[in-house]
Amino acid sequence: MADTFYITTPLYYVNDAPHIGHAYTTVAADVVARWRRLKGHDVHFLTGTDEHGQKVLRAAHKRGLSPQTHVDELCQRFQKIWERLDISHDDFIRTTQSRHTEVVQETLQALYDRGDITKKSYEGWYSTSEERFWTEKDVVDGPEGTKLCPASGLPVEWIAEENYFFDMGKYADQLREHVAANPDWIRPEARRNELLGALKKEVGDLCITRPKSRLAWGIEVPFDHDYVTYVWFDALLNYVSAVGYRRDDEAFRARWPADYQLLGKDILTTHTIYWGTMLFALDLPVADCLYAHGWWTVEGQKMSKSLGNVVDPHLLVDAYGADSVRYVLMAEKAFGGDGDFSHKGFQLRYNADLANKIGNLANRALSMNAKWLGGKVPALDANTEADDALAAEVAAGVAAFDAGVESVAYKDAVDGLLRVAVAGNEYVQEQEPWALNKDGDTERLAGVLRRSLEVCRVLGVLLAPFCPNKSASLLDRLGSTPALTWSLDGLETGASVSVGDPLFPRMLELPEQIAAALALVEPPAPAKKKKKSKKKKKEPVVVQEITFDDFQKVQLKAGKVLSAEPHPDADRLLVLQVDVGEEKPRQIVAGIAARYALSDLVGLQVVVVANLAPAQLRGVESQGMLLAAGSGTGVAMVSTTEAVDPGTIVR
Ligand code: MSP
Repeated sequence: MADTFYITTPLYYVNDAPHIGHAYTTVAADVVARWRRLKGHDVHFLTGTDEHGQKVLRAAHKRGLSPQTHVDELCQRFQKIWERLDISHDDFIRTTQSRHTEVVQETLQALYDRGDITKKSYEGWYSTSEERFWTEKDVVDGPEGTKLCPASGLPVEWIAEENYFFDMGKYADQLREHVAANPDWIRPEARRNELLGALKKEVGDLCITRPKSRLAWGIEVPFDHDYVTYVWFDALLNYVSAVGYRRDDEAFRARWPADYQLLGKDILTTHTIYWGTMLFALDLPVADCLYAHGWWTVEGQKMSKSLGNVVDPHLLVDAYGADSVRYVLMAEKAFGGDGDFSHKGFQLRYNADLANKIGNLANRALSMNAKWLGGKVPALDANTEADDALAAEVAAGVAAFDAGVESVAYKDAVDGLLRVAVAGNEYVQEQEPWALNKDGDTERLAGVLRRSLEVCRVLGVLLAPFCPNKSASLLDRLGSTPALTWSLDGLETGASVSVGDPLFPRMLELPEQIAAALALVEPPAPAKKKKKSKKKKKEPVVVQEITFDDFQKVQLKAGKVLSAEPHPDADRLLVLQVDVGEEKPRQIVAGIAARYALSDLVGLQVVVVANLAPAQLRGVESQGMLLAAGSGTGVAMVSTTEAVDPGTIVR
């Protein structure tokens, strides 16, 4: 029977659109999954979405949608980007699916029945952002006597309530023993040490319910209908519910324990202490290896919505293509460490590795073969020392690549890949096929080009897990397939070889979309001292195509004008109070004085851009913007044809 291989990613919260951090883990899992499949293994690659809990509910409310409609939409965005990034998952689980919720309920019941879950009254500092309680010593003092969550920095509130608790402490020693006895359980080493440190402290109870009166968006607790399950307790169980736990024992035993569970370093505790003790309580083994990867910063800064620098993987795929994005993400930083993503860095990495090494060899070998040998796979000649050295170098590169992918050390794998490409380029340089052609040494020319094409074939196979499309294209040109044959005689002598377009054309400048996006977020360059002022040239306005996701970022709401008055300091502007269905009306400054009399405006139905950052307009704060066509005396406000409630979402 083929080796089985089960790999998982975290389930991504559907509180927002997918970003580069999500893409990173998913691509990483995909690379191993694809490689294992090529090796003939029976692979199961699971990803999905985490759809319950406060964060998701809050996001739904913010969009004016029911949580179910919201999660259905957001989940599709994740599915869409995985499709565009050529992610080859075997299953996509959503925590709102009954195949999952039923298993969670049965598991809760089983743990309750065996006495691992008990009800207790509890008081503590509750952080809605992190969806957890903190103790007095954990919270941080904030302004005016407030207390702040140590993880998010947002205010916490004191909550006293009864809840159900899972007795993690009962399994803590088993967990400690497991970490000690299995040095490779948690990787990299630094994360294992972090866990060892955390386990020196007492492992307490985990509050695993939320009263419905406070949060109803979750899986109902089977033994107390007033409660729903804590989102983490629910979500972690996906790794077993998805593969048949409590449903199909044979299928489940064939998959679990997973070979790899990939996660980000921020969710180490939940995946080790929570998940580990949960599994022990259920008499199940833990996964072979949990790998906690590092984080990306973006152009030197933490990635955050408020900084407006969240990297949208759609933009990357549009601009660079899925294969290059996959490769650069894996090649740009060691998996366990943190790294910085920048578009300049992207361009450099792409050019250095893909264009100058792999693409260069492929273009040269394919075109020389077409030019001098009629585009057919030439015959090998007897091996020289240089040929043996090339074969040995290729074998060493392949071995490093294989070991790298197998141990999720993607950078090592990339080094192996590049070692093969460099060996191929050096071989061509040293053997000088152009000189052999000039001298009419056709036998040696054939042998040299054959080996060069063979190196391209090997590269084509090694590219398969990282750049599946380019791999297929290269192998196709060589009339070959992704067979794991590493000796330099895998092609069919006499078969047709086509040259095609450059495999990885050099990227001379950043793609237009990227340059435009960077112009939006980069701080303006410090003003240079002007010499004589020439007439300033107006920059042409480039209207960029946007995706639906981009459009979704703009929150449009129906509003009703309550009052209007002149701006104290600008004739052109009016200051309006607009009801947008919130506690207080919004004050909006609009440039419509030339067209509208104050009395025309009161009671008018308008459309407001509600999530625009507030701005001072000639000293008066404007908390949004009204949609209008035209300007000056020709301006016309956008309105709905029927009366709708203020706050209704416009889309
Ligand atoms: N829903 C939980 C996981 C439950 S698993 C049963 C969750 N979701 S998340 O969407 O917030 O984060 C998912 C993953 O994205 C985490 O592994 C996190 O580390 C990763 N990343 C989020 N931002 C990141 C970067 N800037 N860089 C790299 N990965 C990052 O946590």
